[in-house]
Amino acid sequence: MYSRFKIVQKPVLLAIESSCDDTSVAIWKDGNVLSNVVSSQIEHVQYGGIVPEVASRAHQESILPVTEKALSDAGIDLPEVDAIAVTAGPGLLGSLIVGMSFAKGLALSLNVPLLAIHHMEAHVLAHFAEPPYPGFPFLCLTVSGGHTQIVRVNDFLDMEILGETLDDAAGEAFDKSGKLLGLGYPAGPQIDRLAQEGQPIFPFPKPQLDGYQFSFSGLKTAIRYFIEKETRQDPDFIRHHLNDLCASIQAAIIQALMEKLIRAAQDTGITTLALAGGVSANSGLRKAAQDAAHQYGWELFIPDFAYCTDNAGMIAVAGYYKYLEADFAPLDLAPAARMPLPNRSIRH
Ligand code: KG4
Ligand code: ZN
Repeated sequence: MYSRFKIVQKPVLLAIESSCDDTSVAIWKDGNVLSNVVSSQIEHVQYGGIVPEVASRAHQESILPVTEKALSDAGIDLPEVDAIAVTAGPGLLGSLIVGMSFAKGLALSLNVPLLAIHHMEAHVLAHFAEPPYPGFPFLCLTVSGGHTQIVRVNDFLDMEILGETLDDAAGEAFDKSGKLLGLGYPAGPQIDRLAQEGQPIFPFPKPQLDGYQFSFSGLKTAIRYFIEKETRQDPDFIRHHLNDLCASIQAAIIQALMEKLIRAAQDTGITTLALAGGVSANSGLRKAAQDAAHQYGWELFIPDFAYCTDNAGMIAVAGYYKYLEADFAPLDLAPAARMPLPNRSIRH
């Protein structure tokens, strides 16, 4: 691909992620993430969910200090940076605009190329932030607050979605169910912790869906009706059964995820499996995936926690492979709230 920029062999990248409620900047050099600074917004806790306008304002406040910390943690000076990678979508538009505008300003002032990164592609490529790296092809279950996908990964920049959620994402299912139990936002980590002291004794219905599709909105409704019914007899039902409720909710979500992942592995014959996204921090999901790996002979990869949740380290990895292809973005590129996974086939 023609480019007015010279491709250097071992580029230093500055990567920016601001698609949701985390402001993150990472520095990449010599195939390694040297620093990966994340500033998580606590402003949303009081609202019980992410407020987009509050998120973009918080990004504006933190993007500069987070960038300065990422550079100083890495021991890199700004003029050493060879390219800027930034999340272009999908995500909250106001949040994306903050990161994109800042990235464009840096690219322009340093006269270096801009790399536009797909957030979900980056979640998958988080597996290449640190060894051990999965071999191609592999299947990745990407589960976050915004997405639930089974992705077939053929190469660094060649992936296709086999199935995804028709409504709520798995993380949303955790967060919305937790809200019904009176837990604060985000409820996912709390449900994980409380479930460890409980048993999955309450059966919640499982959606019957074709292929590798998921649906979690029915679970939320089933929990609401169940709690309404039970609290009529015992007004303190939630408090009396909190651990078992959490264990039951977590088990229902994990069962739905694992059933489709196992089916996808069997149908494709792929035996290298991976988890990505914030929900892959869930201890029950990790254990279920490890058990399945043992049972079906998979090689299983779960990134370090820092690379599971939203972070710029994963944007840096995706940026590096795009940089090698000289796949640079124009400086008038607009971020997008919705963005299909790029359909391309680039072989190395
Ligand atoms: O990937 P992520 O940081 O942000 C998005 O791109 O959405 O994922 C955040 C989601 C939230 O819904 C949060 O509740 C969930 O991941 N989460 C968990 C756990 N840790 C984070 N869900 C269940 N168990 C956990 N341990
Ligand atoms: Zn994410």
